[in-house]
Amino acid sequence: MTNAAERHYFYRLFFIFIIWVHFITNPVSCEERWDGVVVTQSNFLALQAFKQELIDPKGFLKTWNDSGFGACSGAWLGIKCAQGQVIVIQLPWKGLKGQITDRIGQLQGLRKLSLHNNHITGSIPSSLGLLVNLRGLQLFNNRLTGSIPSSLGSCPLLQSLDFSNNLLTGTIPESFGNSTKLYWLNLSFNSLSGSIPTSLTSLNSLTFMSLQHNNLSGSIPSLKNGLISLQNLVLDHNFLTGTIPGSLGDLRELREISLSNNHFSGHIPQSIGKISNLKQLDLSLNNLSGEIPVSFDNLLILSFFNVSHNNLSGPVPTLLAQKFNSSSFVGNVQLCGYSPSTQCSSPAPSEGEGAPSEVSKHRHHKKLGTKDIILIVAGVLLVVLITVCCILLFCLFRKRKTSNDEEGHVTARSGAASARAGKGVPPIGGEVEAGGDAGGKLVHFDGPLAFTADDLLCATAEIMGKSTYGTVYKATLEDGSQAAVKRLREKITKNQREFESEVSVLGRIRHENLLAMRAYYLGPKGEKLLVFDYMPKGSLASFLHAHGPETRIDWATRMNIAQGMARGMLYLHSHENIIHGNLTSSNVLLDENTNAKIADFGLSRLMTTAANSNVIATAGALGYRAPELSKLKKANTKTDVYSLGVILLELLTRKPPGEAMNGVDLPQWVASIVKEEWTNEVFDVDLMRDSSTNGDELLNTLKLALHCVDPSPSARPEVQMILQQLEEIRPQMISSGISSDEGAIPTSE
Ligand SMILES: *[C@@H]1O[C@H](CO)[C@@H](O)[C@H](O)[C@H]1NC(C)=O
Ligand SMILES: *[C@@H]1O[C@H](CO)[C@@H](O)[C@H](O)[C@H]1NC(C)=O
Ligand SMILES: *[C@@H]1O[C@H](CO)[C@@H](O)[C@H](O)[C@H]1NC(C)=O
Ligand SMILES: *[C@@H]1O[C@H](CO)[C@@H](O)[C@H](O)[C@H]1NC(C)=O
Ligand SMILES: *[C@@H]1O[C@H](CO)[C@@H](O)[C@H](O)[C@H]1NC(C)=O
Ligand SMILES: *[C@@H]1O[C@H](CO)[C@@H](O)[C@H](O)[C@H]1NC(C)=O
Repeated sequence: MTNAAERHYFYRLFFIFIIWVHFITNPVSCEERWDGVVVTQSNFLALQAFKQELIDPKGFLKTWNDSGFGACSGAWLGIKCAQGQVIVIQLPWKGLKGQITDRIGQLQGLRKLSLHNNHITGSIPSSLGLLVNLRGLQLFNNRLTGSIPSSLGSCPLLQSLDFSNNLLTGTIPESFGNSTKLYWLNLSFNSLSGSIPTSLTSLNSLTFMSLQHNNLSGSIPSLKNGLISLQNLVLDHNFLTGTIPGSLGDLRELREISLSNNHFSGHIPQSIGKISNLKQLDLSLNNLSGEIPVSFDNLLILSFFNVSHNNLSGPVPTLLAQKFNSSSFVGNVQLCGYSPSTQCSSPAPSEGEGAPSEVSKHRHHKKLGTKDIILIVAGVLLVVLITVCCILLFCLFRKRKTSNDEEGHVTARSGAASARAGKGVPPIGGEVEAGGDAGGKLVHFDGPLAFTADDLLCATAEIMGKSTYGTVYKATLEDGSQAAVKRLREKITKNQREFESEVSVLGRIRHENLLAMRAYYLGPKGEKLLVFDYMPKGSLASFLHAHGPETRIDWATRMNIAQGMARGMLYLHSHENIIHGNLTSSNVLLDENTNAKIADFGLSRLMTTAANSNVIATAGALGYRAPELSKLKKANTKTDVYSLGVILLELLTRKPPGEAMNGVDLPQWVASIVKEEWTNEVFDVDLMRDSSTNGDELLNTLKLALHCVDPSPSARPEVQMILQQLEEIRPQMISSGISSDEGAIPTSE
């Protein structure tokens, strides 16, 4: 036992060493080692001037001390160079005061200036407009004054600009319309005035625009032929007037529209109901009149809606009224139908007898008699009774046919989700081509992460693991958000065209038990990076084996993981028609609520055939490979089921299948013990503590797992059957599964 442990430890160390060597030779970030070129004289002088005009109470710039030799070697804090040119200045959260020197315009190679969260005063130097390589400008959370230099419009590569939360005045320069690569614009929380420049509406790369909390006036320019990539339009807390343009409805990528606290008037355009991706719509505190368009009932994923404090009238569309409470509608004197006290009455208010009516598209000008009222009330009562009966029947039916129903349920919903994700990313409009180093290409899929290619390449990266396909890093972006980045081995990936067509399919797969891919990046030299959600709890393998037995993992948690895995695999097999081929406990990740998220699925589609047989071999070495794969070269649903069975055994025994027990693998070991008698020895001692309550569940799960690892593929069940049985073994998981599920709908992507 100790021998095995030692061996294990040795392998671990060896593995870490390999990773370290890989990191030294293959860095993912742009923090390349010094290329040996000393900083140029003009850059050195500019840096000196830069330091001189700043006040550095905490002494961070003390490292900028020698005659410039160290400036590019990594010795100067916050400086990165290439060929003697400063390309990045990154000094956020350093307590810096003073001003930004005008001589910054001398740093001809500068791509990124990041000085956010300091106390810098003075104005933004107009010489920044001389920097033809500038891509990112992060000056938010400072005390900058003066106006935004219009010269910035002549930085042809500008991608991301954040001046938010300063004291800037003046107008937004019309010249921004020239920044055709601009992807991110945050000018919120300043004192900018004037109107929104018409030229901004031609920016077809822009995905995020926030101008909230300023003093902007005038109206929103027409949005025809522009802003096709825009996802967030945030203009609240200004003095904007005029009507909301109907052309807003053409911006189909929009997720968020916030126009509250302005002076918009006129009707709400019904075209907004066409933006099927819309999640947040805030029109509160304006002077809008007319009705809420019925088309808004088509906004199926809307999770925030507010039209309170306007001058709206008429009935609230039915679905909106059901989904949102009265705080979304109050302050519109003539609006009705959103709460019991605001029922829409037929227009005879003087009579004082408001009878409830159906959504009143048609308005009868007819007084209601007592008879009518009685009839209506009776009708309503009947409808209510029928509804209640239906619900009761439905519940009964559901309880009986638990598992089948549940599967249909999951599949249908995920289907909708993936259709949505698909819609969110049209092949051209959704792509954000970031003009990276030399034509690198970054493509985002639906999701909360927003970053440019440079942000990604400059993220601090930490190696998490390595597989046949490549290395996984934990990347921390500058805004603090985290992502898992997989750098694929270039030599074993398919050519770019095939790669892109396959990856765009994988990037749209969304299921709560499958790890979502958020973006991919193709570097100019053939580098391929995949960006996924980062899972802070790590893999199931480390969850089970990295801690000693003193950390308890209860049966409910393990069963929840098992059922989650089965749901994810079922979705892959039956909905996406994808074979995983490399399912191991290291490829099952856990979210913050310890729900299973299967990773690495479908990656084989991105790889050459040779690479894939290699992976099959590795999985075999780790004990997850179905025996028939030694002859067969291709994985199939039954080999996936075998791997799933091994993980179920792993959950029950808490033993890593990679380590042989008495010379046999985990399935054989378990089978040999079970054969003698139904012994409890196979189970993790932890599970035995409350075996009185769980005993049957453990045994039945064990039987199921052994069924999955049957040497004969045809004897193994399909995933659908596995899920059904798991849900029968521990049915209460179903209901908790549903409720946690439903809670997740508004926030799910
Ligand atoms: C410059 O600063 C670094 C770090 O504070 C220090 O290690 C180094 O000795 C200094 N060099 C000179 C020439 O003062
Ligand atoms: C834009 O800037 C404001 C103020 O700094 C900030 O609160 C907001 O989160 C920023 N928007 C995004 C999406 O980063
Ligand atoms: C609100 O809009 C109406 C026209 O719809 C206009 O007559 C009125 O002056 C506006 N009120 C304010 C406070 O802007
Ligand atoms: C509200 O809208 C009506 C027209 O629907 C208009 O006559 C009235 O002036 C508006 N009230 C305010 C306070 O703007
Ligand atoms: C209405 O909904 C919002 C958000 O959904 C919630 O914060 C608020 O408490 C609710 N208000 C009432 C009166 O139910
Ligand atoms: C809607 O906006 C009003 C005014 O800003 C606010 O008081 C209310 O809480 C908001 N309701 C919701 C659901 O956000």
